[in-house]
Amino acid sequence: MILPIYLYGSNCLRRKNEPVSRDFHELKQLVSDMYETMYHAEGCGIAAPQVGLALRLFVVDANDLADDYVEAKGFKKVFVNPEILEISGEPWLYREGCLSIPEFREDIVRKSIVKIKYFDEDFNEYTEIYGGIIARIIQHEYDHLESVLFPDLLSQLKKKMVKKKLDRIKTGKVRPHYASKFD
Ligand code: NI
Repeated sequence: MILPIYLYGSNCLRRKNEPVSRDFHELKQLVSDMYETMYHAEGCGIAAPQVGLALRLFVVDANDLADDYVEAKGFKKVFVNPEILEISGEPWLYREGCLSIPEFREDIVRKSIVKIKYFDEDFNEYTEIYGGIIARIIQHEYDHLESVLFPDLLSQLKKKMVKKKLDRIKTGKVRPHYASKFD
């Protein structure tokens, strides 16, 4: 089922998110709905707060980026209760976007390597190291679980420059092609 995506300005994007419990029986259905919602919106990652749920969970499918980033080929994964253990490597710029912030893209600096502990949808635990565009997407999605949105990472000057654009999104003047809402 395609879920509406909450847009910039929604309270649910700024709430504290709770760990997914092992007896949350709707987890597999939610993961499937999040993938369906993400594909429909043509994104490469989506986090639970973006569909209005205060849970620490996100999904990634980076395969669409495989032409430009070899590490993205076939990369599809769900991250339940993730914990970033270490961020390292060279900082690099990438023009990020977000399904909750339609028609808005800005260059963001992030480091290139991430070490992360997480569970899959069957609660198997993993600790892995990812690089490149995968590390980028993971950091962006993880930020959603921490109630951080990528424009928060811009410089003060840049924030001033993009304020009007973000205000237009906040006030519902920018509507994406996919189902969206505010709370
Ligand atoms: Ni996002």
